[in-house]
Amino acid sequence: MTDQYAVVGNPIAHSKSPAIHQRFAAQTNQDLTYNTLLAPLDAFEQTVKDFFAQGGKGLNVTVPFKQNAWHYAQQLTDAAKRAGAVNTLWLDQENQLCGDNTDGVGLVTDLEINQQVVLKNKKILILGAGGAVRGVLEPIISKQPAKITIANRTVAKADKLADDFADLMAMEAANFSALSETFDIIINGTSASLHGDIPPLPDVVIGPQTICYDMMYSAEATAFNQWAKQKGSQKQIDGLGMLLEQAAAAFYIWRGVNPTTKNVIEKIRHEL
Ligand code: ATR
Repeated sequence: MTDQYAVVGNPIAHSKSPAIHQRFAAQTNQDLTYNTLLAPLDAFEQTVKDFFAQGGKGLNVTVPFKQNAWHYAQQLTDAAKRAGAVNTLWLDQENQLCGDNTDGVGLVTDLEINQQVVLKNKKILILGAGGAVRGVLEPIISKQPAKITIANRTVAKADKLADDFADLMAMEAANFSALSETFDIIINGTSASLHGDIPPLPDVVIGPQTICYDMMYSAEATAFNQWAKQKGSQKQIDGLGMLLEQAAAAFYIWRGVNPTTKNVIEKIRHEL
């Protein structure tokens, strides 16, 4: 039987994941299907259980279920443990439900490999302190930046995040208005772009060498990236490459082969 995969979420109809994974499968000659799976908001666990009981091989998990998946999985990778969220599920040989979070690896791969932006020894500003940021912090820290500042509208949440990762790296927590230096890299992990909002940052954070990365993506430049360009930053990148790279990392977990992402990123960009 052809191996079955899906992305589970609610809503899910507009997910790009089927188009991405179907391209990966064609490119690497893998015999699989990949569909969307709509889970009722109150029945995530049952939906996952049924999927695997019917022979499903692997799931990606998206909004709003990544934390549910973290609780439901029986085995977590170290990255997933730290992230507090799971975006990839599969069964191991003992039929244990395993969970990983490939979002952070996706972000770092997009920055370092696709965009040639090295994180080591850089001063990084991360905007936001919600689930999206928690999910990517450990892989960013593992690249040994010189400094990480987490800025958030609610500074107590940035403080909590810094505390939770303090054993890996000492990070600064701040509110936006307190920022008073220029950063090498600014990563927007707030959901402000969803509403066309921009975190209220002082101009000083951006210099001519600053690289700006919005974890969101859209057909046009995101509100944050438009602002970053206007303020004279060197380069603005959106999160489409991160989406592709987190998918490629999940594909590798399931299939043991590494798809090539570059031409798929271009195709998906074209379809936005
Ligand atoms: P996600 O899973 O996308 O991270 P979340 O956990 O609700 O969602 O976190 C959203 C993040 O975006 C938070 O850091 C939030 O700031 P608060 O902690 O102060 O709520 C941030 N955010 C959302 N809308 C924002 C806006 N208009 N301006 C600045 N920050 C915003």
